[in-house]
Amino acid sequence: MTNTFLMLIRQMTARDVDRVYEIACRSLDEYYTKEVFYFLIDGWPSGQLVAVNMIGNIMGFISGARLTRDKTTVSLLAVDDMYRGVGAGSGLLREFGLRTSMDGKQHIQLEVRSTNADVISFYRKRGFVVTEYIKGFYNNGGDAVRMVCSVRANS
Ligand SMILES: CC(C)(COP(=O)(O)OP(=O)(O)OC[C@H]1O[C@@H](n2cnc3c(N)ncnc32)[C@H](O)[C@@H]1OP(=O)(O)O)[C@@H](O)C(=O)NCCC(=O)NCCS
Repeated sequence: MTNTFLMLIRQMTARDVDRVYEIACRSLDEYYTKEVFYFLIDGWPSGQLVAVNMIGNIMGFISGARLTRDKTTVSLLAVDDMYRGVGAGSGLLREFGLRTSMDGKQHIQLEVRSTNADVISFYRKRGFVVTEYIKGFYNNGGDAVRMVCSVRANS
């Protein structure tokens, strides 16, 4: 199923930010401003991607940053709920792995709410392993697990 839905993964531009912001507000439980996306685009344009369907609608996005000499981080990943389950999240993560590798880095790191078993499982199936438990990571005091993936395993 996930490989048959036709979509394009391309770099996010400033013109995409309104729609990306809408998806973020609907899908993520932390508070973000649009400026966060402009900041991330400025910081590492290649690490900001959108998945677009055949009629040009943005289905989801991934936003990341360069973290260290050998690591990038996924800051945000979300797919609009009407487009979930058809491979957009996997496609975005795969392309992010390629962009990480092209940037000369070997690992991707990210944090997930410790109670979000479905998303932890999503990342595990795509090569991520839990490396740390971080108490009080989120603004509301919630805990996170840190997960890391080698880009070779991810691509
Ligand atoms: C996590 C998320 C990005 C995955 O995006 P997606 O486009 O649904 O991902 P895919 O279609 O590639 O794969 C989704 C998985 O869920 C399953 N799935 C099927 N239907 C689904 C649906 N309606 N909704 C969610 N997942 C579904 C898929 O079969 C697949 O299972 P697998 O892991 O066994 O392969 C998306 O669920 C999301 O935006 N969640 C809310 C935001 C969030 O929690 N982001 C992560 C913060 S770290």
